[in-house]
Amino acid sequence: MGNVVASNNDRVSMKFVTLVSIVSALGGLLFGFDTAVVSGAVGFMEDRFDLSKLQVGWAVSSLIIGCIVGAAMSGVLSDRFGRKRVLIAAAILFIISSIGSAIPDTFSGFVIARIIGGIGIGITSTLCPLYNAEIAPAKYRGRLVALNQLAVVSGIFLTYFVNLWISNSGNEAWGIETAWRWMFGVGAVPGVLFLVLLFFVPESPRWLIKQGQAAAALPILLKIHGEKLAKQEVIDIKNSFANENGSIRQLFKPSLRIVLIVGVGLAILQQVTGINAVMYYAPEIFKATGAGTNAALVQTILVGFINLLFTIIALWLIDKVGRKALLLFGSASMAISLLVIGIAFHSGHTDGPFVLVFVLLYVASFAVSFGPVVWVLMSEIFPNRIRGKATAIASMALWAADYVVSQTFPPLLNTAGPATTFWLYGAMALIAFFFTWRLVPETKGKSLEEIEVLWKR
Ligand code: BGC
Repeated sequence: MGNVVASNNDRVSMKFVTLVSIVSALGGLLFGFDTAVVSGAVGFMEDRFDLSKLQVGWAVSSLIIGCIVGAAMSGVLSDRFGRKRVLIAAAILFIISSIGSAIPDTFSGFVIARIIGGIGIGITSTLCPLYNAEIAPAKYRGRLVALNQLAVVSGIFLTYFVNLWISNSGNEAWGIETAWRWMFGVGAVPGVLFLVLLFFVPESPRWLIKQGQAAAALPILLKIHGEKLAKQEVIDIKNSFANENGSIRQLFKPSLRIVLIVGVGLAILQQVTGINAVMYYAPEIFKATGAGTNAALVQTILVGFINLLFTIIALWLIDKVGRKALLLFGSASMAISLLVIGIAFHSGHTDGPFVLVFVLLYVASFAVSFGPVVWVLMSEIFPNRIRGKATAIASMALWAADYVVSQTFPPLLNTAGPATTFWLYGAMALIAFFFTWRLVPETKGKSLEEIEVLWKR
């Protein structure tokens, strides 16, 4: 009988939690869409607005500037107004940005619209995983938070196809005047869907308890955990707040400084190992190996596919083998692939599928480890009361590092050459391995409150 009750509870909670997570993972889809869409549009825009190389860079990176701002704001805003309300605001920014990027007749109008969208991404990239972590039962938390990353990579993959389809729908002149507008404009559709669905999900129970609204949190926790566990959760969450005052200064105290170092360190390492050099510039890399434009595009789609496939594998593994094992395996394997890619460029052996195979191995290694796991850890390692602000700091660091990598990759490629560039990323992957080995704790299967205790030891 007990078992029957338990499994019913399990079913209720999983249905509820999965629904909630899918909704917030839609935010991830928008993240992937918005970062990738410009890759297909920028060529047309270059002609339409007669852009200089610097402006082309700005067309790509204006969004990331917005992301840094959005991530910075997300913590303070979501601690004050709740996770749900701030996500709703982000959805509205997405819609404004999609339409705003599609209609302008000046380049500066476009840039402003992209910065607005970036603010939306900065917010959702921080809050969606965090919201998922706060609502998920410990047993499935890794998987459910990683769903967000699955949405990100699905967004990237889908966008490659949508871009291709739109640009094939007319001639060159139509492309320059209209195609890129459609590419950005279609983003309004998932934006509206995200906005509407957000009204159906509850506020984070942990945030409610922090606001002194335990009565409102209990029914939500009951749906997630069943009766017995829910009451215990309320007590555990309340206790966790008793030990913290929620000020950001607390994070710099010796006992918690290490959590901040781990969170921010992982965020930066996720980016400086070079993933977005590949994500944003893959066709250029393949062209450097001698591939024609078409072959380069096909190879790029392959990159998107492998990224998606191995993210699914990560989802399956993250609550089984744990976060740390995936990070260690992934960083070692990224370091090896980057070393080999560097050697290939150094020795001039770039013909044939050799470089492609190791780029795919590198992307697979990232997708199974640093891609999803860093977002999962960033959403779960910080104590309850300062989670919003602390996750925001880590997320801001991640976007800032993304900005640096995506800005420096083209000049690095030109001046230092591909071999040195990839070796540099490889060295970072090695640092990521040792950083993880020495500093990152295993959080698999632990409640958020148990994780807090880990740092006190
Ligand atoms: C990273 C993004 C990256 C994506 C690629 C994410 O985890 O934060 O910067 O573009 O993975 O799959």
